[in-house]
Amino acid sequence: TVELNPALLPLDWLLGSWESDEPGEGCFTSIKPFRYIETLNFSHVGQPVINFTFNAFHAETKKPLHRECGFIRMQPGALRVAFIIAQNSGLVEIEEGELTAQRLNLQSQALARVSFAREPHVQKISRVIQLRPDGRLEQTVSMATDNQPLMQHLHITYRRSS
Ligand code: HEM
Repeated sequence: TVELNPALLPLDWLLGSWESDEPGEGCFTSIKPFRYIETLNFSHVGQPVINFTFNAFHAETKKPLHRECGFIRMQPGALRVAFIIAQNSGLVEIEEGELTAQRLNLQSQALARVSFAREPHVQKISRVIQLRPDGRLEQTVSMATDNQPLMQHLHITYRRSS
């Protein structure tokens, strides 16, 4: 096993694999509320970078749905964190924000998408990822689209699976 790059010590609580403990809840004014399950993995190879994958599935049929993968970097000497993300929907994004204790508060800084991405297009994303005192990880994602102001799309909690 490779030793964790010391630059990433403030994020060591993320590392490993996580699985939703109960189905996550999806919503948005323009869609039917839905439930989903999701697995997360955060790993490293000794670089000052975390590699991650988020894989979501239909809560009942387990059919693969949304997927994200990317990298996490920290600004040297600061608690500023950047997520570099690719989504299977054709969206790529940079999110940045501050780490306070074991809580990341991220806002999209740049969004781009394939020319034939489905509408409505996402215009803004904000995301909170935090380790709760009970040892569960919690993720809340809000978005704004062409048609709708910033509002919650996802809420889910995970337990450690390794
Ligand atoms: C719908 C974006 C993550 C499941 C949507 C819509 C957008 C969107 C723009 C269409 C909203 C509308 O029609 O007004 C995103 C973004 C995500 C994300 C930016 C990540 C940051 C997820 C995840 C799931 C999911 C993890 C889990 C399964 C759905 C479903 C719908 C939906 C079921 C409604 C049906 C559909 O349009 O496909 N999402 N989504 N999304 N999203 Fe997400």
